[in-house]
Amino acid sequence: MRIDILTLFPQIFESPLSCSILKRAQDRGIVEISITNIRDFAADRHKKVDDKPYGGGPGMVMMPGPVFDCFEHVERLFPQRGRVILLTPQGQKFDQAKAVELSRENRLILIAGRYEGFDERIRIGLGAEQISIGDYVLSGGEPAALIIIDAVVRLLAGALGDEDSAKDDSFSAGLLEYPQYTRPEDFRGMKVPEVLLSGDHAKIARWRAEQSLERTKKQRPDLLKNSENGF
Ligand code: 6GU
Repeated sequence: MRIDILTLFPQIFESPLSCSILKRAQDRGIVEISITNIRDFAADRHKKVDDKPYGGGPGMVMMPGPVFDCFEHVERLFPQRGRVILLTPQGQKFDQAKAVELSRENRLILIAGRYEGFDERIRIGLGAEQISIGDYVLSGGEPAALIIIDAVVRLLAGALGDEDSAKDDSFSAGLLEYPQYTRPEDFRGMKVPEVLLSGDHAKIARWRAEQSLERTKKQRPDLLKNSENGF
């Protein structure tokens, strides 16, 4: 997979992309991630990328020119077009089903906005879909882009070691994950449930399934009510 990120703040991505699973996936050639600074495509000598909204109102809006020029440059860096995604609180809410869907693409182009938003012609002209990561407002789309990249890349074949398989994760079956324990058996008087020490694999599987369901009922009953989770 190839992922391109268009942003005004490339530095935000440096550390998250150079640690842990995202680093390993890039080192192994499972994903190639490229970051391009939209400001490099500003047309004037002040490197202006935003302007006042027509009709008035607070804040600044990202101008279409620099984003289009940046996008057209990035498009030429790789033969496939893939999915074009604008990160904005106006988008559809990101979830595990969307992560699975995006993990099947060969290329993603993510555009992170700052300021009060994008000039509407960016969305229309680039044929972009809009994604939000939840019902709250961030100062920019960069953290949202990182969240999407993390959720997608860990689903790519070979990104996780055998030891950290994705199939038992919370949400992978529409339920939260069961409780996990490791050594010691007794920690400050809190004991590991007997069943996990029993060696009876069928019994353990049953216990885990029950725990998943109980947890989901208690913590996230909404997951049981709707079957919109895509699983
Ligand atoms: Cl994608 N961008 C911003 N600015 N805020 C958000 C968001 C995105 N998703 C949730 N809040």
